[in-house]
Amino acid sequence: MSKPFYLTTAIDYANGAPHLGHAYEKVLADAIARFHRMNGETVHFLTGLDEHGQKVQQTAQKRGISPQQCCDETAELFLKLCRDLNISNDDYIRTTQPRHVKVVQELLQKLYDAGKIYKADYKGFYSIRQEQFVLEKDRLEDGSWPELFGEVIEITESNYFFRLAEHRDWLRGYIEEHPDFIFPEFRRRNVLEFLKEPISDLCISRPKERLSWGIELPFDKDFVTYVWFDALTNYYSAAVEKGCWPADIHVIGKDILVPPHAVYWPVMLHAAGIELPKKILAHGWWLSAGRKVSKTKTAADAAAPREKSALELAAEFGADAFRYFVLREMAVGQDSEYSEALYMSRYKSDLGNDLGNLVNRVLKMTGNYCGGASPVPALDEAPERELRELWEKTERQYHGLAAQLDFRGALDALWTFIRGINRYADARAPWKLAKSDAPADRAALETSLAVMAEGLRLAAVALFPVMPGTSEKIQTLLGCAPAEKFEGHQTWGRSLVGKTFGAGAILFPRPDPKKSV
Ligand code: MSP
Repeated sequence: MSKPFYLTTAIDYANGAPHLGHAYEKVLADAIARFHRMNGETVHFLTGLDEHGQKVQQTAQKRGISPQQCCDETAELFLKLCRDLNISNDDYIRTTQPRHVKVVQELLQKLYDAGKIYKADYKGFYSIRQEQFVLEKDRLEDGSWPELFGEVIEITESNYFFRLAEHRDWLRGYIEEHPDFIFPEFRRRNVLEFLKEPISDLCISRPKERLSWGIELPFDKDFVTYVWFDALTNYYSAAVEKGCWPADIHVIGKDILVPPHAVYWPVMLHAAGIELPKKILAHGWWLSAGRKVSKTKTAADAAAPREKSALELAAEFGADAFRYFVLREMAVGQDSEYSEALYMSRYKSDLGNDLGNLVNRVLKMTGNYCGGASPVPALDEAPERELRELWEKTERQYHGLAAQLDFRGALDALWTFIRGINRYADARAPWKLAKSDAPADRAALETSLAVMAEGLRLAAVALFPVMPGTSEKIQTLLGCAPAEKFEGHQTWGRSLVGKTFGAGAILFPRPDPKKSV
């Protein structure tokens, strides 16, 4: 059997609750996974939780619980997020799982044996309050350290280092020769820019007396491995025994592209003689009032008029509306602004008016005028031909753009078509034709309902990767079994003739004015 199409998201830090940024990344990856499945490919989709490190150790200490308990609680929240958003991941890795620990230790040992890891003194500034090294760049303009670091002292500590520096030329060459490795293109150029300067070897350990919540180095029991060596390896540890490696796409945010994913990860794999992933997709940030959405609440947030978060709106208006909003609003790779007003405008206009009303109209009119059974499209005149041609264009655009990971563009094209069906309905006006007994009007009425329904079916199938629940609901209401593949279901035809439709349905109910803030 051929290797599945393997895609991953970043694994989320286990020291905070999920927010829009985490949710977006999972939805984007899920749409890609579903798109590939609908194209007939076997897909393996991984997401998970990054459980080790200082922050979890500190959070657990503060709360008086064990680090593992802290991670277990956070895992519940993230797993619930996946369920609530209808994420179709095939696996969920947690970096405290034995399957992961084993592979990280094997990799470390292999690199150590090959002389790629060495021990040396590390000299730096250390914040006693934060229990971590701080960098020169963290200093304030007057040379002092920010208040949150408390007392900062200079210390020397023995640690293990990974030979990163010697691989810089190889990595530059690799990225230049593999234009598809980093997406979008402007981020690839950023990486190449970064690699023009020399890079230092990577410190990959922490002494256990300072950090115990980590994976022990297999060649020195007094140390644990630190952050990236542990976290990045999840993609490989979860896949190697399943025969999925190499990954086809790593979906991550722009903040962890350079250096972790674009520098450390390829070099780690190359040094260990493991095949590299095919592509790294770095998406942009969700911003709110111009600032990155994050779990940390500032004083300004607390003072600002309270608007509902995107995840609150997802709970109120459903997963599919959330999925549509984030994929329609954000151009992959760019930042995007979130606001409740923007979300609700997409909900009311694109989903309620354009799509929801269309579904309800088609079902109700077919019920009222044709006893609920989809009629035969007897006529093929200019309005029908134009709509069919619009579909043919949309089909090419939608599938082409989604294959290039441009879901915003793909949805834009699909909505042009959905609005086209509404325009067709207005032009044919079946509700007027229904008042006439003339046979020509009856033929036009039946044709218009059949044509609208066929357009809706095609749009619903295309919509599946983005709005799986809505897509299945519409197909079921049109009397068909939801398509499991695009193939054979994206061509204009007569497959609905004679099918019995469901009664009218409100897919996107208007917001309850009493509930709004
Ligand atoms: N644990 C590391 C990743 C290790 S991957 C081997 C981490 N975790 S995180 O919880 O901080 O972020 C998880 C993902 O969410 C990252 O890809 C990050 O870019 C993304 N986002 C977090 N906030 C975001 C926004 N405001 N907007 C979009 N995505 C952002 O980094």
